[in-house]
Amino acid sequence: MPKQRRKRSVSAEAWIPPLTAVFCLLAIAAIAVSGQKRPGATASKTSAAGLLEAKRTFDTACASCHGLDAHGGERGPDLVSRPEIVRKTDAELLKVLTDGRTAAGMPSFASYAPARLSALVGYLRSLQGRTKVLALPGDPTRGKVLFFGKAKCAECHMISGQGGFFGRDLTSYAERMSADDIRAVIVNPNRDLDPRHGLVTVILADSTTLSGMARNEDNFSLQLQTPDGVFHLLNKSDIKDLSYTGWSPMPSDYGVILSPGELNDLVSYLLDTSRPGKGRKAHSNREDRDEE
Ligand code: HEC
Ligand code: HEC
Repeated sequence: MPKQRRKRSVSAEAWIPPLTAVFCLLAIAAIAVSGQKRPGATASKTSAAGLLEAKRTFDTACASCHGLDAHGGERGPDLVSRPEIVRKTDAELLKVLTDGRTAAGMPSFASYAPARLSALVGYLRSLQGRTKVLALPGDPTRGKVLFFGKAKCAECHMISGQGGFFGRDLTSYAERMSADDIRAVIVNPNRDLDPRHGLVTVILADSTTLSGMARNEDNFSLQLQTPDGVFHLLNKSDIKDLSYTGWSPMPSDYGVILSPGELNDLVSYLLDTSRPGKGRKAHSNREDRDEE
C-alpha cells in the first residue's frame, strides 16, 4: 500500500510540465477549431489523454532526432511545417511510422501498438494545425464567396477542382506562404514578376495577334495559353513578333476593388484551403502518394 502511494505521487509530479504544455496546446486547438467552424480536424479526434501520452512518447522516442518542438533537429526533418509532410494523409504518416525509412535514418516503430501510433499522428497534426490556424487574418468562408464571386479569381484560378485554368491552381498555393506575402501578390501582381511569367504578345506571319501566357518555349516552338484556357502550339518560324510585356495578366487593382477586410478574407480562404486534409478531397489521394 504505502509503496503504491509513493509511486503515484512521484509520477504525478513528473506529469505536471507535460500536462501544462498539452493543456495549452489543447486550448489553442479548441479555439482554432471553434473559430474555424470546422470540426473533425484530426487533432480533435485524439483525446486529451491520448495527446498527453503521445507527447511523452514523442519526447522520448522522436525528439532526439526531430527536436523537442518537432521543428527538426540535426538528425531528422521538421515535422511541423515541411509542406510535403504536412500534406501527407494520416494513413501515409502511420505507414512511415510503422515501416520507417531505415535507409534514410528514420527507424521503424512497428513495435508500438496501433493506438499509440495513431495518437502520435494526432499529436503531430495538433502541432501542424496550430501554426496554420493562428495565421488566419479573416474569415475563409467569406473569402471563398469572394473568390468564386465578386473578385472573379475563379475565372482564372482553380481551387479543389473548381474554377478556370489560365492562372495556376491555388489549391495548395498558400502552404508555404505567410498571410502578408499572399496579400502582396494579390494586391500587386506585377511586383517581382519574372517577365517570363507575364503576358506575352505574339504576332503571327498572317498578322493574327495572340496574347497569353508562355507555357513552354524552345528554339523551335512556343506553347501559348490564351485567357480562355486554350493552348496554342506555335512554330517559331510562323511568329513575326514576340514580346514579353512584363505585366501579369492578373488584374492589378484588387487593392482598390476590395476592402482590407475582404482581402483578409480571401487570404484566409487561400491559407485555409492549403491546410492538411483540405482542398485535396476533389483530387484522388493517389496524386499525393505519387509524389513520393
Ligand atoms: C534516429 C533518428 C530518428 C528518430 C528517433 C525518429 N525519426 Fe522520424 N525521421 C528521421 C529521418 C532521418 C527522417 C527523414 C527520412 C527521409 O528522408 O525519408 C525522418 C522522417 C520522419 C517523418 C516524415 C517522413 C516523410 O514522409 O518525409 C515522420 C512523420 C517522422 N519521421 C516521424 C517520427 C516520429 C513520430 C518519431 C518517433 C516515434 C520519429 N520520427 C523518430 C529520423 C528519426
Ligand atoms: C484574368 C485572370 C486572372 C484573375 C481574374 C486572377 N488571376 Fe491570379 N494570376 C493569373 C495569372 C495568369 C497569374 C500568373 C502566374 C500563373 O500562371 O499562375 C496569376 C498569379 C496569381 C498568384 C501568384 C501565383 C504564383 O505563382 O506566385 C496568386 C496568389 C493569385 N494569382 C491569386 C489570385 C486571386 C486571389 C485572384 C482574385 C482576387 C486572382 N488571382 C485573380 C491570372 C488571374
